Amino acid sequence: MNVYLETFGCQMNRLDSELVATQLLLAGHVLVDDRKGADVVLYNTCSVREHAEEKVYSRLGADAQRKANHRPGLIVGVLGCMAQRLGESLRKRFPAVDIVCGPGQLGRVAGLIEKAAAGEPGVALDPRRGEAPRAGDDDEALDALDVARDPRQVPAAAQAYVRVARGCDNFCTYCIVPFVRGPERSRRPDRVVQEVRRLVDAGRSEVTLLGQTVNRYRYRPGGDRAGTVRFSDLLERVASVDGLRRLRFVTSHPVDFGDDVLEAVRDLPTVCEYLHVPPQSGSDAVLKRMKRGYTRSRYDDLVDRARAIVPGVVLAGDFIVGFSGETDRDHEASAELIRRSAFKNSFVFKYSPRPGTWAAGHLADDVPDEVKRRRNRELLAVQAEVSLAHHRGQVARTVEVLVEGPSVRAAKQAAKPTPEATQLVGRTRGDHIVHFTGSLRLVGQYVRVRVTDATALALLGERAEGAP
Ligand code: SAH
Ligand code: SF4
Ligand code: F3S
Repeated sequence: MNVYLETFGCQMNRLDSELVATQLLLAGHVLVDDRKGADVVLYNTCSVREHAEEKVYSRLGADAQRKANHRPGLIVGVLGCMAQRLGESLRKRFPAVDIVCGPGQLGRVAGLIEKAAAGEPGVALDPRRGEAPRAGDDDEALDALDVARDPRQVPAAAQAYVRVARGCDNFCTYCIVPFVRGPERSRRPDRVVQEVRRLVDAGRSEVTLLGQTVNRYRYRPGGDRAGTVRFSDLLERVASVDGLRRLRFVTSHPVDFGDDVLEAVRDLPTVCEYLHVPPQSGSDAVLKRMKRGYTRSRYDDLVDRARAIVPGVVLAGDFIVGFSGETDRDHEASAELIRRSAFKNSFVFKYSPRPGTWAAGHLADDVPDEVKRRRNRELLAVQAEVSLAHHRGQVARTVEVLVEGPSVRAAKQAAKPTPEATQLVGRTRGDHIVHFTGSLRLVGQYVRVRVTDATALALLGERAEGAP
C-alpha cells in the first residue's frame, strides 16, 4: 500500500519514524509524499505543546472528511506521544482513526495496518506509569525496533540518530514527556555501539546520540555498581567506531553534568564541541516552580566549566516564557542568562499547560498570552544579538562543513543554479549553519569553507582553496 508518514516533534520522533519507515518498507509498503493520494496516512505525533497537537487535529479533521466523502478505505493512524496521551479517546473524537499506537509499541505498526485493512481497528498503548509491564513489553522488546534497523532501507545523507536512552524520570512540572515516554531506561552500550557501526558501514558518518537527558545515561549490567557504564564511557566506546567522523548528543540536562563528560568532549576527536543544555529560565524562583533541580548559579557554573574545559565550545539553550508566576524580573533574568552564556542559539517556547502535569493541576496559567508573546519576541531579539556577535566571531576562520544539501534559498533563486554552482548548506562541528556555493556532488561530504560573513542565523563563506 501507499503510506504517507508525517512526523511532528523532537529528534526522538524523527528517529522513531525512520524505524517505522524501515519496517513498512520491509513489509512491502511504499512510502509516498502525497497525503491525498495515500492508502494509509500515519502521523507520528508530539504532545509537548498544545500547538503541536492542534496541527494533528486539523490533519485528522481533513482525513475524516475525505474518508466519509470518497475514500472509505483510507486507513488513518496516530502514532507516538499524542497517541499515548489520548489513547482510546482519540477514536471517540475522530472515529475515522483506525490505529492508535504509543511510542513503545511502534514495532507493531505493520501488523496494525494489516488488521485495519481487514476492517479491524487497533489501539496499542504502552503501560501507564505505575502499571506493571505486560508480557512482551520488556526492555528487550522495546529495543527490538532499534536493533532491527536496516540503514540501507532508508536512504539519507551522512547523518543518523541513535537512541541511547528512553523516557524521563525528571517530571519537570510543566512537561508531558515523562507521562508519554515512560520511565528512564538506558540501552545496553554494546547495542548502541553495534548500531553506530552498522550505520557507519552503510555510509553515515555523523551520528547524534539521543536521550531526553542524554548525559545522565547510565548502564548497570545486572544492577552491578562496579561495572557501571557512564555517559562519558559510552562516548568513548562509540567514538572508537572506525569511520565515524562526527559524534553529537542531545539533549543534555544541567544536573549531573560532570567534568568527565566535558573532558570526553575535549579529548575525543570525533565528539563535536557543541552542547545543547536547556536552562528553561534564568530565574531561581521560576526554576524552583519548574522543579528543574538546579539554581541559576549552578547553571552559570556549568557554563563556566564547559568554557574552561572545552576550548571553543558552542552552547545552545531552550527557554519557556510565561510560565506560571513569571514576573518581568524573572524574564529579565532569562535575557541576562542568554547574554552571559553567549548561546549560539536558543529555542524559545510560550508556556503551554499540559493536562496531567503537576503545573497544569496546581499552578495558574496566569501570564496573559500577549505578555507571553511579547516575552517570546524579546528573548528571541536578545538571542539574535548574541547569535550575531557569536557568528561574527567566526568570520575569517576556515571551518569544516558537512554538506547537507542545496539551501532553500537556492531553490528560490531567480537564476537556475547549475549543478556545479549551487547554494549549499551544511553544518560545522559547532552546529553553525553555513551557506556557500559549490557542486551538488559535495552533498554528504566534508569540505573546508572560509567564513566571509555572518548573520544572526548563519555563516556565509566560500570553499577554501586547495582543501580536501
Ligand atoms: N528533554 C529535553 C526537552 C524535551 S521537550 C530537556 O529536558 O531539555 C523540548 C523543549 O520543549 C523543552 O526544553 C522546553 O523548553 C519545551 N517545553 C516542554 N514542555 C513545555 C510546555 N509545557 N510548554 C512550553 N514549552 C515546553
Ligand atoms: Fe521534560 Fe524535564 Fe524530562 Fe526534559 S528533563 S523531558 S523537560 S521532564
Ligand atoms: Fe514531543 Fe514526544 Fe518528543 S511529546 S518533544 S515528540 S518525546
